[in-house]
Order: sequence, then C-alpha cells, then structure tokens
Amino acid sequence: MSQDPPQTPEPSFELKRPKPMTARYPADEPPRRLAPPPPRKVVVLGALSAMAAATARLYAADKGRLILVARHEGRLQALADDLRARGAAQVEIETLDLAVEAASAAQRMRAWSETLGGLDHVLVFHGYLGDQAAASSDAAELARIIDVNFTSAALWCEAAAGVFRTQGRGALVAVSSVAGDRGRQSNYAYGAAKGGLALFVQGLAHSLAASNARAVALKPGFVDTPMTEGLKKGGPLWAKPEAIAEAVRRAAERGGPIQYAPGFWRWIMLAIRSAPAFVFHRTRL
Ligand SMILES: NC(=O)c1ccc[n+]([C@@H]2O[C@H](COP(=O)([O-])OP(=O)(O)OC[C@H]3O[C@@H](n4cnc5c(N)ncnc54)[C@H](OP(=O)(O)O)[C@@H]3O)[C@@H](O)[C@H]2O)c1
Repeated sequence: MSQDPPQTPEPSFELKRPKPMTARYPADEPPRRLAPPPPRKVVVLGALSAMAAATARLYAADKGRLILVARHEGRLQALADDLRARGAAQVEIETLDLAVEAASAAQRMRAWSETLGGLDHVLVFHGYLGDQAAASSDAAELARIIDVNFTSAALWCEAAAGVFRTQGRGALVAVSSVAGDRGRQSNYAYGAAKGGLALFVQGLAHSLAASNARAVALKPGFVDTPMTEGLKKGGPLWAKPEAIAEAVRRAAERGGPIQYAPGFWRWIMLAIRSAPAFVFHRTRL
C-alpha cells in the first residue's frame, strides 16, 4: 500500500490584520504635563534688574518664598507687592548695596536662610556695564566695574555655597555674560570681570559636586534691559528678560555649571573664541 507523502502546508501570504491600536493616551484624556516645580525658598540679589524681576515672577507663580535684595526701598516694595499678588507665599525685602556690603555676605546669607527656613536657590543678578573708554583712564571706574561684576558677586556666591554646604543641598545661579568669553576692545573690563565670575562659579560647582548642591554661571547674549539702553536693539540675537528668566529658572533646577542663554550663543561664542587674533583684531567688536 502506497502512502501519501506528508502534506507540507501551503505558505500563506495573507497579511495579518494589524491589532487595533489601543490608544495609550485617549483623545478625551487631558495631555500629561510635567509636574510643576515645588515652591522654592529663594534669595534674589540685584532683584530690581529687569531679568531678576522677570525671574522672581516665575517663582511667585509657583508660590515661592523670596527675599529680594537691591538698593531702592520704594521700588523693592512695589516689586514685593506685585509678587504677592502673583501668588508668592512670602516676600521679604532687604535694601542694601551689594558691592558695599559684600564683606558681610556670609553672615547675611545665613540670616536669610534662617528667615526662610533654609535656601533652595540663590540668584545673583547685580551687574554694572560701565564705560570702557572712561575705565581706560579712570581707575575708580575700572575698579567699580571689577568690584560690582566680579569681587562682590564672588563673595555673595561663596556665601551662598557656605549655606549649601551646611544644608547639603541648594542651587546657585550667577548671571555672567558672553562678554566673558573673549576680551574685546569695547568692554574688556566688564568682560574680564564676567569671565572671572564664570570661572569662579565653575570652580564652586566642582567644590560642591560631592554634595547635593549645584552652582551655575549663566551667560546671556544681548538682552533688552535698561543696561543695554542706547544700543540698537532688535533682530534674532536679542532676547527679552522673560526668556532669560526661564533659562535662570531652568538652570536652578538642572544642567551643567556653564549655560548660555539663549543656548545658540554657545556656538556663536565658540566661533568668536576660535577666530585667530590677526582676524579678530581687524574687527571693532
Ligand atoms: N542686558 C544684557 O544684554 C546682559 C547680557 C549679559 C549679561 N547681563 C547681566 O545680567 C545681569 C542683569 O542685568 P540686566 O540686563 O537685567 O540689567 P539691569 O536691569 O540694568 O540690572 C542691573 C542691576 O544691577 C544692580 N546693581 C548694580 N550695582 C549694584 C550694587 N552695587 N548693589 C546692588 N545692585 C546693584 C542695578 O541696581 P540699580 O538700579 O540700583 O543701579 C540693576 O538693578 C547683570 O549682571 C548684567 O551684567 C546683561
């Protein structure tokens, strides 16, 4: 009896019907959002600067507790009222000159920490562009540019780090500048002070690395604020203080010790730093 050879199944070319997509995020469900940052306890130095006020408004909207430090009591009061109306849980003001009082920075920072019950973020905004032409012949103007932008800023940064070391946490953001990336004829005193501040903060970040604390030097490009009045503004290189405020707020939560704002300035400054002197010296930058 002959046996039929075993039947091999015909290959099937029928396309499998795809499984119906089960929507993971159905359209009628609200989109998922990142959790808002928790309310922060913040010291804002140079709080009346346009960038600082814009940043303080972001913290106020998150129900933060703030200490505002600047030189004009009336304007500080007005800013504090505005921040309370925007949701800040607590706003204290301190009227002082941050250059004159820098020697007492450590003691004041500890007192502010006690007032707020610890510090989450310390933000250093105060700065002085100065007049390079005058500074070249006027030692007082040169000393002022270096003192406000470097010496006093460094002392306040170190004071913040002192509190963070004790707490084992905290974040410092100090506003430096892209002007600190290469010395230029138009503002080398200011640029040197801001560049020095960035190096100082970078070192501070290194010294804090073993703890849960951080330090960031934020380098804005051109920003439309009172400091730049008199310059021709507009165009894609100019940012509003609100945009820098967002960058400061982000930098206080995460990221490395040197951050550019807006971020594209990293690449512009890379090109400017890389230009050979024989090319650079032909410009009037
Ligand atoms: N605008 C830009 O294009 C740009 C670019 C890069 C970096 N930055 C830096 O960004 C920061 C914020 O500046 P801004 O653009 O927002 O300009 P701004 O509105 O002119 O702010 C500068 C602030 O620094 C304060 N200040 C100066 N010396 C002080 C002192 N000894 N004690 C206390 N406060 C003092 C000024 O207070 P008074 O009102 O009392 O003088 C002013 O509120 C500065 O560090 C600046 O160097 C600015």
